[in-house]
Amino acid sequence: MANNNRGSFSSKFGAIAAIAGSAVGLGNIWKFPYVAGENGGAAFLLIYIGITLLISIPVLLAEFSIGRHGQGNAFRSFVNMTGKKGWGAIGILELLGAIFVLASYCVIAGWSLEYIMRSVMGGFHGMTQTQMDVQFDMFVASGWRPIVWMVVFLIINGGVLGMGVTKGIERCSKFMIPALFCILVMLAGVNLLQPGFNEGAAFILRPNWSVVTGRTILAALGQSFFSLSIGMAAMITYGSYIQRRESLTGVGVIVSLATVLMAVLAGLAIFPSVFSYGIEPTKGADLVFKTLPPLFAELPGGYVISILFFILLFFAALTTSLSIMESLVAFFSEELHIKRIYALGIGFAIILLSSTLCALSQMPDSTILVGGETLFDWTDKFCSAYILPLGGLACVVMVGWFIPHYVVEHELTSSGKTPLWIYKFIVFMMRYICPVVIVVLLVNCILDYFGVDMIATLMSLI
Ligand code: PHE
Repeated sequence: MANNNRGSFSSKFGAIAAIAGSAVGLGNIWKFPYVAGENGGAAFLLIYIGITLLISIPVLLAEFSIGRHGQGNAFRSFVNMTGKKGWGAIGILELLGAIFVLASYCVIAGWSLEYIMRSVMGGFHGMTQTQMDVQFDMFVASGWRPIVWMVVFLIINGGVLGMGVTKGIERCSKFMIPALFCILVMLAGVNLLQPGFNEGAAFILRPNWSVVTGRTILAALGQSFFSLSIGMAAMITYGSYIQRRESLTGVGVIVSLATVLMAVLAGLAIFPSVFSYGIEPTKGADLVFKTLPPLFAELPGGYVISILFFILLFFAALTTSLSIMESLVAFFSEELHIKRIYALGIGFAIILLSSTLCALSQMPDSTILVGGETLFDWTDKFCSAYILPLGGLACVVMVGWFIPHYVVEHELTSSGKTPLWIYKFIVFMMRYICPVVIVVLLVNCILDYFGVDMIATLMSLI
């Protein structure tokens, strides 16, 4: 069953860097600070941390346990852990989610490469917001240019993954995660001098409990799951590379807290500039590729800051995409019994095709639409709303209810190193609380699709 030729993370720091690398991605940098700001700032942050500790970490630990005990790719680990092939279907679902997420992720990562180049070639100094809007929209609509950068990004991914788990992923993450942290601290530091610093910091750090509703809690839950890369094969695959001597609980808690820290720093690196110019805060591509570049160009050392910012985005996207791509590589190499390099070729081809379709779906008059949305937008929404909670739910239910206690205890206490009460608490959450909470999230997403506001409906019934 166990395959001893599999790679592994050679040290605790290496494991933490790689796993944090998967977690800290675009979701943390361009989405979290905005969602936090809109949902009550520090009030949201506290709820987010609470939800992460109580709900997301047990789900994450369920995924780690499946990977480490199953010692295989996302599909094989489910089968190995239960002894039943049927459970492997969840692994396949998660791998499909991984393909969907990566399809749009690689396109965006390609944009960051284009913008690194544009920053190096003179940057955005003196450009107006309208010019930025036009420039970005034309770039995205050009079709071929984003595709070329996406291919470059995939080749970089391939280069790292080709070197293997320890020498490729781990080594790259050990460099990139500290670098990412340093860039964030530097950007936040420069923003300290901005006239809008207080307002920007208050946007994400001042508690505003008056806007907190049931919806805030669901937003925190969805964001926390996405941030921790739950439900999409990545954490099962990386879990299978964590060595026996490491404490899964310790790694899970450190990574989760590091992820929150990075997201808050991202907010401090972004919003003071936005507020200094009296611009409405936004999120996503508009924030990063349209609003921010000319603002950063105005900062002291603006030329270097713009370059650093897009390098930050590229590092965040790369370490995340490595985890998703690795899930595919592990799957193909182990299931088809082929060398890593061939598995990489298959993964590369699949993502090349899906990302190209995503990039083309953004061209004007594109017909690559799903339910009226571009394939690019749809993949992201579909995964976050359905695959991610479904995958997470299946993991906690399986580990909480279907796996013998001694196996789970062995994994979660790391053979007795983690106190028993922590293990008991985590299992309690996995069995009773997490499934209920995730089902509520799923139902909300489904109702949302049909235009029904679950929270408002419930409130009207009370
Ligand atoms: N955690 C990543 C982010 O915040 C997204 C992700 C989701 C990665 C699921 C892998 C799997 O951007």
